[in-house]
Amino acid sequence: MYAPALDGEFARDVCAGLQRSPLKTLPCRYFYDDLGSVLFDAITRLPEYGLSRSDARILESSARAMVDALPPDLAVAELGSGTGAKTRLLLEELRRRERVVYYPIDVSEQALQQCAQELGPLGDVYPLRMSYLEGMRAVAGRRAPGQTLLVLFLGSTIGNFESDAAIDFLYAIRTSLEPGDALLLGTDLVKDERLMLAAYDDPTGVTAAFNLNLLGRINRELDADFDLRQFEHHARYRADAQRIEMRLRSKTHQKVTVRGAGLIVDFARGEEILTEVCHKFRPEQICGMARAAGYRLEAQWTDQAWPFAESLLAAV
Ligand code: AVI
Repeated sequence: MYAPALDGEFARDVCAGLQRSPLKTLPCRYFYDDLGSVLFDAITRLPEYGLSRSDARILESSARAMVDALPPDLAVAELGSGTGAKTRLLLEELRRRERVVYYPIDVSEQALQQCAQELGPLGDVYPLRMSYLEGMRAVAGRRAPGQTLLVLFLGSTIGNFESDAAIDFLYAIRTSLEPGDALLLGTDLVKDERLMLAAYDDPTGVTAAFNLNLLGRINRELDADFDLRQFEHHARYRADAQRIEMRLRSKTHQKVTVRGAGLIVDFARGEEILTEVCHKFRPEQICGMARAAGYRLEAQWTDQAWPFAESLLAAV
């Protein structure tokens, strides 16, 4: 999930976010430089972070039912495919029925190359190095007559959007679909608060390193002088918003210069930067979110060991 910043965009976003009041913010998509991607991969292997294993478990146990719920002559597109490791489970099942046509969409050249190498033997794999929406438009433009599209948006990445933005995004995807096309949406579910918190504040400190690397990236790419020892990782669960918030808290009163963004920022002792929101869902909320964005909930598969849902939404 490597996200190279476009020219000037990173500087503009950092500049706007660090000047925001009363709460400074930084967009979570900038977590994923080379080091951030390695740290995220380590997060997915943490015993406390059950989300990725649960996502994969559902795909493994329900791939057959998912494929059976869809018409023949399917093309599969995946938003943020990475190397497509989890998707193999679904594509292998699909291959038992028909020739696989798969469009992994990602901004990481390296991840797409690996994906094409590993999943290529399963069928026709067409990697698209594009943003999600550009990728969807490209896939829609290549659709063969009579073909149905299945879009995969796994891993609960939808939870990293603000609630309104999540619906807007799903609706934007819908505009590239025809009625009868489908979206398989992965969402992490609300569970015991201690479990949710431990997943974002592991005792090994991997999530803390992942969060702090955002400041490291600003130092490296925007010639800034954040002293990473003077900030600490903080995760909290906000029950009112049903979300984990990841923040970076300044341990002291300090001034930071971000030369590449032409910015000098003051931090009060204890002041925080909001770096990520991770919404948790109740199964019935997914139906409402789908309806608001132009879909109908067709089927839902859940995992009980780590509550997580895979929902099949039909474009209406
Ligand atoms: C990518 N996304 C679904 C992860 C999540 O759980 O919200 C990102 C993450 N942040 C901290 N740990 C994992």
